[in-house]
Amino acid sequence: MTTPASGAADGDDGLSIRPAARADLLAIVRIENESFSQPWPYDAFERFLGDDGFLVAVEGGTIAGYIVADVSTQFGRELGHIKDIAVHPDHRDSGIGTALLTRGMAVLTARGADSVKLEVRRTNDGAKRLYRQFGFEPLRRVPGYYGNGEDAIIMLRKLE
Ligand SMILES: CC(C)(COP(=O)(O)OP(=O)(O)OC[C@H]1O[C@@H](n2cnc3c(N)ncnc32)[C@H](O)[C@@H]1OP(=O)(O)O)[C@@H](O)C(=O)NCCC(=O)NCCS
Repeated sequence: MTTPASGAADGDDGLSIRPAARADLLAIVRIENESFSQPWPYDAFERFLGDDGFLVAVEGGTIAGYIVADVSTQFGRELGHIKDIAVHPDHRDSGIGTALLTRGMAVLTARGADSVKLEVRRTNDGAKRLYRQFGFEPLRRVPGYYGNGEDAIIMLRKLE
C-alpha cells in the first residue's frame, strides 16, 4: 500500500510513503548516521518493523527518509510520540519531511492519541520550524538531554 504525497505522482519516480520493511533498514540506518551525532543503531529500528507508525518515504525508487511514531498509555491517556524522523541530506527541503509527518500524525490520530509529543535539540531550528507548522508548541526544556550535553525542547500538540 502506498500513498502519494500531495502534488506527487505515485510510482517509481514520484514520492510515496509506505510502511518500512526489513529490506529498507540498511538505507534507513545510513540516513540516520548522516543525520545525527548519536544515531539509533540497526536493532532500534528493527524493533519497530510491522508497526504502522514506522514509515519510509520512497523517491525515485530510493529510500529518501523515514519516521518512527508510536502511542503509549500514560495516566489513562493515549500519548503519541514522534520518536525519530530524518530525510536524506540530498532530498531535504522538498516537502518529504512534511509528507512523513503528515502520515505519521494520521497514524497516531487513527490510533486514538489525545496528544503527541516529541523531543528536539534546542539548536535544531529547521526541525522546530517544521513542527510549529504542524501545531506543536514548546512545552519545556530538558537540560543535558542529549549525550553531548545539549538541551532538548519537548514539544506538544493536542489532538482533541
Ligand atoms: C527535519 C527534517 C526531517 C525536515 O525534512 P525536509 O524533507 O527537509 O522537510 P520539508 O522539505 O518538508 O520542510 C523543510 C523546509 O523545506 C520547505 N519546503 C517544503 N516543501 C518544499 C518544496 N516543495 N520546495 C521547496 N521547499 C520546500 C519547507 O517550507 C521548509 O522550510 P523551512 O525550513 O523554512 O521551514 C530534515 O531536515 C532532517 O532530516 N534533518 C536532520 C534530522 C533531524 O534533525 N530530524 C529531526 C530531529 S527532532
